[in-house]
Amino acid sequence: MTIPAYKNPALTVSERIEDLLGRMTLEEKAGQLNQWFNLGPEHYDMVRKGEIGSDLLAGSPTAGNTPQERILARRNNEVQKIAVTESRLGIPLIFGRDVIHGYRTVAPIPLGMAAAWSPELVQAANTIAAKEARADGIHWAFSPMLDIARDPRWGRVAEGFGEDPYLAGKLAAAAVRGFQGNDQDAIPERFPADRVVACAKHFVGYGAAEGGRDYNTTEITRQTLHNVYLATFKAAIQSGCGTVMSAFHDIGGIPLSAHRYLLTEVLKEQWGFGGFVVSDWGAIGELINHGIAADARHAAELGCGAGVDMDMCSMVYLNNLPDLVQSGKFSEERLDDAVRRVLRIKFALGLFESPYVDPDASQTDHLLPESLAVMRRLTADSMVLLKNNGVLPLRSDHLTICLSGPLADRRKELFGCWTIDGRDEEVTTLKEAITGRLGAETWLHHYELVDDAVKLARASDVMILAIGESAGRSGEDNCTTTIDLPAGQEALVESARRMEIPIVAVVFGGRPLNLTRVMDWADAVLFAWHPGIIGGLGVTDVLFGDVNPSGRLPITFPRSTGQIPLYYNHRSTGRPLPRGSRRHSRYVDSLDSPLFPFGFGLSYTTFKYGNLGATADPQIPEIVVTAQVTNTGDRAGTTVAQCYVRDVVASVARPVRELKGFERVSLEAGQIKTILFRLGPKEVSYLDDNGHEILEPGRFQVWVGGDSNTDLGADFEITPDGRWVVIDKGE
Ligand code: NOJ
Repeated sequence: MTIPAYKNPALTVSERIEDLLGRMTLEEKAGQLNQWFNLGPEHYDMVRKGEIGSDLLAGSPTAGNTPQERILARRNNEVQKIAVTESRLGIPLIFGRDVIHGYRTVAPIPLGMAAAWSPELVQAANTIAAKEARADGIHWAFSPMLDIARDPRWGRVAEGFGEDPYLAGKLAAAAVRGFQGNDQDAIPERFPADRVVACAKHFVGYGAAEGGRDYNTTEITRQTLHNVYLATFKAAIQSGCGTVMSAFHDIGGIPLSAHRYLLTEVLKEQWGFGGFVVSDWGAIGELINHGIAADARHAAELGCGAGVDMDMCSMVYLNNLPDLVQSGKFSEERLDDAVRRVLRIKFALGLFESPYVDPDASQTDHLLPESLAVMRRLTADSMVLLKNNGVLPLRSDHLTICLSGPLADRRKELFGCWTIDGRDEEVTTLKEAITGRLGAETWLHHYELVDDAVKLARASDVMILAIGESAGRSGEDNCTTTIDLPAGQEALVESARRMEIPIVAVVFGGRPLNLTRVMDWADAVLFAWHPGIIGGLGVTDVLFGDVNPSGRLPITFPRSTGQIPLYYNHRSTGRPLPRGSRRHSRYVDSLDSPLFPFGFGLSYTTFKYGNLGATADPQIPEIVVTAQVTNTGDRAGTTVAQCYVRDVVASVARPVRELKGFERVSLEAGQIKTILFRLGPKEVSYLDDNGHEILEPGRFQVWVGGDSNTDLGADFEITPDGRWVVIDKGE
């Protein structure tokens, strides 16, 4: 018996796809575009009929399973076997899952990962996540989440890389490479067997939800879409991301799951995206709730017509596309295009050749010591030191510590949002990490009750307060009307203050929090995000000085909720920053500046940036900026050198500054290093309303320094005849 061409690995992927497509009925085609969750025996008949192309979130606690049922590899093999051996064409299922920050070796939340400003570590963390997930039979991670967020009330700010398109874009590309293992900037012909396909989400502009309320409506101009919100997605697509998820919300009345311009014209045509688009959960069916689809049939027509290839959990495609095509109301060409895209990824994952997974692989691939070591580095590097009057690092000999605060001895809370596969018992709490370090002779007092803690603090050398947010207070559907600390926490810090012993506040959180008061009362403040499995160990690495903190804020920390939205790369306005004059853009009851600017973070040493130099070669469209950075303190440390640009005069008002380069620089005490940034057309151009690059002559400013407030700068000009000239060399 000859095998059908689509099963012949010697043929090219497109030959195999065309052969398979030619054999499929309309129902089987729609089946490939239908994704359902946690398939169980009640769905097996649908799988046999070829009515399901993908399964998501199998055996997850979300689906109500017990831990025993979470032995995913076996369960995935069982469902896969039905698809492969009992359906007419034997097309394998693709198993998707929310692998958002690590898998079993849980990484810090993405906002925390971003604080390390290290594409290398993000790539390494996702490589680990991919291997662990693939060992359980997962093929597809619904990550990275690339929504630029300027509103910390929005709970999903935790899942993204912050407010800046440049930093988030670099991390997006690294995240994709880590998951997929591709060394080419293109969707691989064949993914390595131990990697998964990534999914850039939520396309696009979800972070702009009005009022910071999840699923809410947005208004975003084309300018802002192209220059801010789309930029991270473009970076992911350019590095070969295989899938994209369309978002729940609408922009100006057009839901993203029916947004033809963005999904088809920009993503697929302009950017040449060759993978497939999956809707978010139920979003195709929700086109009815939005008020743009009359019924499910209409929703299928709008969603698929606009460019969403796979329908996550509304069954709208399966139930309507075959008939829509049959009756001539929907183009079979578009249906085929969607099916081709899905099949391409299935072939690239090697699912036709290797549909199953070794059921014991998780035992050898999960929680490897080298994976934990990478996570420990990333976790420690993600910590941002916001204040230190000298109390840190702690000396560990004969130190009596009073530890208090609601998060001092918590496991699950340190995981952060979207942790399906981490196990509570594998996290080290802050109390355990401190106790472990101080050895048999425990110098630690831990008090849950505020009164006891405060009273007994007197007998201690230092008080550590573990405060902030629980994991369940950020992430999807966890928006807040305030960024103030949860009730009672400021009171705890204030009463501890009265004991007149040094206070170190360790703040866990999934969003920027209002730390204005804590800053007044605490002697040191360390922002630890939700650190994942390493948990308290990452914090103690920094508290005790094994790791000199180098994390930098990937998002502005406001002074109060009322300042939101507050982000560094805003436009100037006609009445810019207050300089003592009246009637400018300001508040009367607060300072205008943030509590901490984007890019901010302290170290146990100090750095000085100086000797800025800008040079241009008349033959090359480029400015080369150099600066000297000196470690002026008495211990080795790492700074993140940041380079910002402003287009001073353009046809459209441009941001007051935009990040265009960064580099982690490690220096011994007293060491000096010259750093260099190159600014070319890509760095100084912007996009017009159609996404086309515009490079206009005129004046530009450039700055280099340790955060977005740096004033170490120079000026240059692009002349009307296209020459790049330095006007003011800086220092
Ligand atoms: C809804 C969320 O918005 C999305 O991020 C997630 O990937 C899907 N649910 C699947 O769980």
